[in-house]
This record gives sequence, C-alpha cells and structure tokens, in this order.
Amino acid sequence: MASYVLLCLATLQGVRAWGALGHATIAYVAQNYVTAETASWAQGVLNDTSASYLASIASFADQFRATAAGAWSAPLHFIDAEDNPPTTCNVDFTRDCGATGCVVSAIANYTQRAGDGQLTAADTAEAVKFVVHFVGDITQPLHDEAFEAGGNGIPVHFMGFNDNLHSDWDTFMPEELIGGSSLANAQSWANTLIAEIDSGVFAYEKAGWIAGDTVGDAIATATRWATDGNALVCTVVMPQGAAALTAMPDLFPTYYDGVIGTIELQIAKGGYRLANWLNMIFETDIANRGIVDGSEVVKREVVPKSELDGHAFPVERELSKAKLARAALGYGCDHQH
Ligand SMILES: *[C@@H]1O[C@H](CO)[C@@H](O)[C@H](O)[C@H]1NC(C)=O
Ligand SMILES: *[C@@H]1O[C@H](CO)[C@@H](O)[C@H](O)[C@H]1NC(C)=O
Ligand SMILES: [Zn+2]
Repeated sequence: MASYVLLCLATLQGVRAWGALGHATIAYVAQNYVTAETASWAQGVLNDTSASYLASIASFADQFRATAAGAWSAPLHFIDAEDNPPTTCNVDFTRDCGATGCVVSAIANYTQRAGDGQLTAADTAEAVKFVVHFVGDITQPLHDEAFEAGGNGIPVHFMGFNDNLHSDWDTFMPEELIGGSSLANAQSWANTLIAEIDSGVFAYEKAGWIAGDTVGDAIATATRWATDGNALVCTVVMPQGAAALTAMPDLFPTYYDGVIGTIELQIAKGGYRLANWLNMIFETDIANRGIVDGSEVVKREVVPKSELDGHAFPVERELSKAKLARAALGYGCDHQH
C-alpha cells in the first residue's frame, strides 16, 4: 500500500500515459496518413484547422481523467491482461476488460460515437479526442498488462532517477531519445517515423499493422491491437522478469538500447493505425451518410450497433487480485497507466 501512495505522489511531477510526447507524435504521424476528406472532417469536428489539429488534443484524455469530473474514465486507458509474464502473455477481452470498461471497450464505444452523426458537436468532438488518445495508449505494451498495475509497481532506476517501469516506457525513455516533449519535438520525431514508414525500416511491415482492421468489429480489432502490444511484455519489456529489471543499477544504457527500437515501432504503428481508423470512421460512418464538412447532405437512419448493446462491457464478475489492487490504487491516481 505504501508504495502505491508514493506512486500517486509521483503524479505531481506531471507524468502521463504515453507521455505528451508519445501521444502527440502518434497524432502527427496520423495527420500525415489521413485522407484530405478525413482531415477536413476531423478539423471541423475539433474546430481546429491548424497544423496540429490532432496533436493538440492527443493528451486531452489524460488531462480529463485527472479532474474530478473525468475520474470515471481512468480505466479506459488500459486493459488489465491477467496473464503471467514473462512466461505467458495473452489478452482475453471477457476476462480482462472489467465491468467499468477498458481501452478496448472505449475504442469501440468512441469509434461508434465519433461516427454516429446524431450526437451534439461537443460529444462528437469528445469521441474523436478519446479515439485519438486510446488508439495511442493501446500500443504501449504496459497498457495491455495487469502485472504490477502495468509495471507501475516495478521500481527501476533510469538515468540516475528512481522510477517505475511504466513511466519509463510512457515518458522517460521516449524523452531521452528525442530530448524534449514539446509539440515541435513530436513533429520532428513524427517526421523521422514517417520517413521509415514510407520507405525505411517499416515500409514492408506497415500493411500488417492494419491488416483486418474494421470499424464494423471494433472490439475484435482493438483486442487484436491489445494482444499485439501485450505480447511485447513477454518478449521485449521484461523477458527475464521484473526482478531482473529492479536489480539493474540503471536501465541506461543496456536495457534502453534494447527496447528503444520497439518504442519507436509502437509509436509509428499507433499513428499509422490511427490514420487508417479515422479514414474508416469517415468513409464508413460519415461519408456514407452524406455528412461532409459538417453540412448534412443525406440523412440516413442510424442503426444502433448491436456490438455495443451490452457487449462493450463484459459480464460482471468477481474482482480478481489484480483488479482489487488496481481499485486500492485509486483510479484517479494519474500516474498509473
Ligand atoms: C471555433 O474556434 C473559433 C476560433 O478558435 C472560436 O472563435 C469559436 O467560438 C469556436 N467555435 C465553437 C463552436 O467552439
Ligand atoms: C460510451 O460513452 C458514453 C459517453 O462517455 C458513456 O456515457 C457510455 O457509458 C459509454 N458506453 C459504453 C458501452 O462504453
Ligand atoms: Zn492514456
């Protein structure tokens, strides 16, 4: 319990999930790959035609959950996969999501709401902001892991600081690579990743990042994304277990050098996926209904998606050990996930 309290105090340092740098970078990568029509729709929804229309709102969900009004949304930033790393890694939506929702159910819900066409402008903008953030969160391997509250309970040393593993993945290792966390830093990192996606190390694998993605089955798609991130917990994040990381005098440079390429991969992947996802929301749910540039042309009847009628939340079940620990931690504590 005492260590959880310390974790919460660390919040005061302003640490956030995939820190502001990671989320803004994912958003800038996405801005590069959305179609002109999707961009114009998103700019209209967000009322922002600036060059950072997605990057500026990419961390909105973290700011929101830190408020009393937004505390309910904290569980939506992660899924507590109750597997057994590093021996076994896996995600089971029914087992892991929890009755208050998780990042998978949230992606499904806000995807549906972003394309709904019947919500208020404010609710539509909120939905787009959540989608931009959560499609980012789900690529961070420790957001797809219950063990030690996604690594928040794994003490490590990095660059001479006493950190926890989660915050090093979210924030401190990306910032060490890029040298800052401003929007300019994010744009510059995004440019590097875009070059790799277009014709560099990611050119051949990018098709696999979005293969099979469909807004028609957002739960299955997002569960696949979570499974992809979660697998890295066993193979890259802690292949020798958590104790081996805690025992290291410093994660820099050996551990950092070994994982930073995966961090870049996940940020690039998140941005590329987000663009494709927004394009699909626009093409399937907005353009299809004839709503373009905010002015409705043809209004079709909106059929509620049965997927969300009860299925976005798994059936209520007894709280597992991991979820009890998470509840004790207090969802309002910003530092966890
Ligand atoms: C849109 O943004 C402009 C300028 O930033 C502002 O004046 C206007 O009130 C905003 N509109 C809405 C509906 O929020
Ligand atoms: C979807 O989001 C809305 C708005 O935040 C929320 O009221 C509702 O409970 C959510 N539904 C599901 C199934 O997640
Ligand atoms: Zn988050």
